[in-house]
Amino acid sequence: MKISSEVELREKIKVEIAVSAEAGAAIVADEIVSLVLKKEARNEKAVLGLPTGSTPVALYRELIRRHREALVSFRNVVTFNLDEYFPITNDHRESYRRFMGEQFFNHIDVPESQIHIPDGNLLREEVFSHCQEYEELIRLAGGIDLQILGIGRTGHIGFNEPGSSKSSGTRLVTLDRLTRLDAARDFLGEKNVPRHAITMGVGTVLSAKQVILIAWGNNKADIVARAVEGPVTESVSASFLQTHSNARFIVDTPAASNLTRINLPWLVGPVAWSEKRTRRAVCWLSSEVNKPVLKLLDEDYNENGMAELLIEAGPAYPLNIRIFNELQHSITGWPGGKPDADDTNRPERAHPFPKRVVVLSPEPMDDVVSMGGTLSRLVDQGHLVEVVYMTSGDLGVPDAEVGKFTNNLNETACCLGREWNPQVEYCQQIMELLNRKGLFDYDSNEVRQLKGLLRRAEVREACWGCGIDPEHVHFLDLPFYQKGHYRQFHLSDDDLKPLLNVLRHYQPHQIYITGNRENPISVQALCFELFSRAYRGISDEAWVRDCHVWLYSGREWTFSPFEVDMAVPMSPAQLAQKMEAIDQHQTQRSQTIHNAERDRSTACLYDKLGLAEYEAIEVFQRWRSELIKTKAPLAVIES
Ligand code: GLP
Repeated sequence: MKISSEVELREKIKVEIAVSAEAGAAIVADEIVSLVLKKEARNEKAVLGLPTGSTPVALYRELIRRHREALVSFRNVVTFNLDEYFPITNDHRESYRRFMGEQFFNHIDVPESQIHIPDGNLLREEVFSHCQEYEELIRLAGGIDLQILGIGRTGHIGFNEPGSSKSSGTRLVTLDRLTRLDAARDFLGEKNVPRHAITMGVGTVLSAKQVILIAWGNNKADIVARAVEGPVTESVSASFLQTHSNARFIVDTPAASNLTRINLPWLVGPVAWSEKRTRRAVCWLSSEVNKPVLKLLDEDYNENGMAELLIEAGPAYPLNIRIFNELQHSITGWPGGKPDADDTNRPERAHPFPKRVVVLSPEPMDDVVSMGGTLSRLVDQGHLVEVVYMTSGDLGVPDAEVGKFTNNLNETACCLGREWNPQVEYCQQIMELLNRKGLFDYDSNEVRQLKGLLRRAEVREACWGCGIDPEHVHFLDLPFYQKGHYRQFHLSDDDLKPLLNVLRHYQPHQIYITGNRENPISVQALCFELFSRAYRGISDEAWVRDCHVWLYSGREWTFSPFEVDMAVPMSPAQLAQKMEAIDQHQTQRSQTIHNAERDRSTACLYDKLGLAEYEAIEVFQRWRSELIKTKAPLAVIES
């Protein structure tokens, strides 16, 4: 894409937008490989600064692939990792040392002596000198040639939380609440996340010769835009990269979505006014000038960079009415279509009625969090709803929940007498496995199975709360999840079959799914990828042509009104019912779910646009299969 000078003025760091995270990772891998080869030719060592987190996983996989194909050797590479939790033991499953081994170093030929990672396993009084030594080692290696970074939601690079100064060096820091919350899932609870970390400083990062920051997924969109377009400030440490002469961001399209050139392109140059863009612009204008759509004036358009739109589609009033009507038509209390009503302007067709509906939930709870109210409506309105949980969700269950369950079962069995011995034995076996595991090791299959069963029980209660009988609740327990761990999942042909079977069995008229905008290695993104491959494989089957696919929002993001094709309002009582259903996921209490507020604030947005004022709203986007990127199918899909 050619960058206009207006874009350059706004984007104070060079940003490349890749079509996908894989494509972005390939660009970074190219940079690394060419640096390594160049240095090798000069008989020098390449010095890399490396990050952890889910973002670089795609990059490490790509580098491992190239190494296996003998395209690159890392013998001449020296690495410095950005950070490490403190205190943490080296073999702790969440230690960055272990992460780097599992994700990268164990699969390439970099010599152990050339790997440097801050040591989280020191005494507190040893940390200061360790940090000084770390800086010295970087200096002795000749400085970092290429520093790769991810970005945290607080805008941190490494663990340089808001408040870190531009000249800061490697040091011990205290982690921000949001950072600890983000890590809570991996550590099975916020209380287990270390309070501190050792991190290279902003100054250390800025002294690298070249810096590339990578970001994937919708969750990063906001902070990427702030770092690139906002002021240089200690409150977003990534913004300091604006002062580096050779820094750039490589992001995928969801992570780029809040940049002005993507979000508000008419502010940075002429645009083609498609229907969707017009709707986006009018909604934005309404919030910018704080007026409902129907009250926008010609002057409002002119004064806010939308004069061209006015020429093409104006004057203001008929344009306002058109957009208002479009928004109005997206709102429906009949997500499955209203039988026997004129459906010309409704998001979903009236017939057939009742509809067969399949709701795909990547992990337990995705469904009820983002569409619990809609689920109830579909059932109440007589549709045949099947809820399908693609993965068991056992990885998110804290050990304490297993302890509670086994204690309970054990005690019950003891009260009831001898014939309950097998239950007592089972409890003992599970408790032994847990005790042997140590607090932070991976679970054995037996424990994982029990954790999965605990989630099944919660799911059934939550579904029941939405009016769905247990016989309409299905569990696929897809193998990629059962065999994997967070950040270490690999899809295979075996994952496709159960999904295809379900879809072919029910031949739904509506499918609900989420995950299209998430970080590509998240469970949700992998499940969506699987769904889109399955769907593409069966797109010729007659029933598929009559099936509408609706995307629901993620746990941490939601659609904006301009991109919504169906908005389903909830009354206060319906919202309360939904919250009660979410509460059934008791093992997930440590997860932050601000859902009542989110659904309420979505309703507020509609209200501000001048539409009816509802208590809460759930939103959906229609997915059309031609939008999916073409990829080789995982497996040959036979009918
Ligand atoms: C942690 C790491 C950062 C990383 C960030 C984002 O805080 N210290 O280096 O960039 O997480 O993680 P993720 O890539 O998982 O979103």
